[in-house]
Amino acid sequence: MIKTLEWTPDGVRFIDQRKLPTEETYVTCSTHEEVAEAIRNMTVRGAPAIGVAAAMGIALGTRDAEGDHVSELRRNFEEICDTMAETRPTAVNLFWAIERMRRRFEEASELPVEQIKQLLIAEAQRMYVEDIAACEAMGAHGAALLPASGGVLTHCNAGALATCGYGTALGVIRAAVDAGKKLHVFADETRPFLQGSRLTAWELMKDGIPTTVISDNMAGAMMRQGKVGAVIVGADRIAANGDVANKIGTYTVAILAKEHGIPFYVAAPFSSIDLETPSGEQIPIEQRSLREVTHFAGKQIAPAGVGAENPAFDVTPHRYISAIITERGIARAPYSDSLRELAQAAEAIRA
Ligand code: MRU
Repeated sequence: MIKTLEWTPDGVRFIDQRKLPTEETYVTCSTHEEVAEAIRNMTVRGAPAIGVAAAMGIALGTRDAEGDHVSELRRNFEEICDTMAETRPTAVNLFWAIERMRRRFEEASELPVEQIKQLLIAEAQRMYVEDIAACEAMGAHGAALLPASGGVLTHCNAGALATCGYGTALGVIRAAVDAGKKLHVFADETRPFLQGSRLTAWELMKDGIPTTVISDNMAGAMMRQGKVGAVIVGADRIAANGDVANKIGTYTVAILAKEHGIPFYVAAPFSSIDLETPSGEQIPIEQRSLREVTHFAGKQIAPAGVGAENPAFDVTPHRYISAIITERGIARAPYSDSLRELAQAAEAIRA
């Protein structure tokens, strides 16, 4: 399996996603500031991967922080958490991971400083293992939804590279292929950062899953020609009513799918579900550098000084979504009920 990120004694190791598909190189971040920068500059990206990277960054920074007393360590720990929280605003997994690390710190706060540090490292490593298990569970729940054969379209990269391994949307595709379905993936290239053509195509080809890259503006034509039997994407944040923030362009694909009568599925772990946010209206959307739009591979492709926009995500209203596949099962409309029920069922099992 692709090692998207990994805890090592020297720091947090990432496959450098900015260099794929032409170079498979790895970087080790030896400080929490370097981990924060790796999240900001997209060395690591994808909502679940960002969450676990932040947790590992917090564990790393706290391990190396000064503080013989818990109060001093807590001050440093909180500063590290704040640094992580400022990296990217949309994927709720980041804030979920920070909160989980905060809870762990407080639970351990009566213990000696060295033990707190070890427990934080163990917590980040647990999140890593749980994320892979969640992806595999999504695969098991979601595989039956995909057609027995034919084209499945995906947008951006919701694969092993966006998680700790296996993937959310691509995990469901992998499970369906393993179950014998004869699928062919259409990967939207995903302008402007090209996660679809660079990353999704790369990791599916590694697994031998037939893949065709299309530019984003071809999706409608492929659907019209009957080449797409289902759409499946990931999510950066799902609001309580089922509205989904995901990579810019997802909304367009959802409307096209509706127009053509094609099911539109979202696969995401509960760490991407934000029941505190009532609807997509309240989800903060990251605005990235305009240069990503006006330049391509360092070359200017728009007139100097022209206006540009670069929202990294859009929101797909819940009415376009056929089902949300989670590690706890499949949610269907009305999502405000089904998501809450799945959340409560998991609480009840834990209690
Ligand atoms: O800007 P990115 O590459 O971090 O955006 C990633 C996406 O939009 C993914 O679809 C989403 O995080 C789901 S990943 C399992």
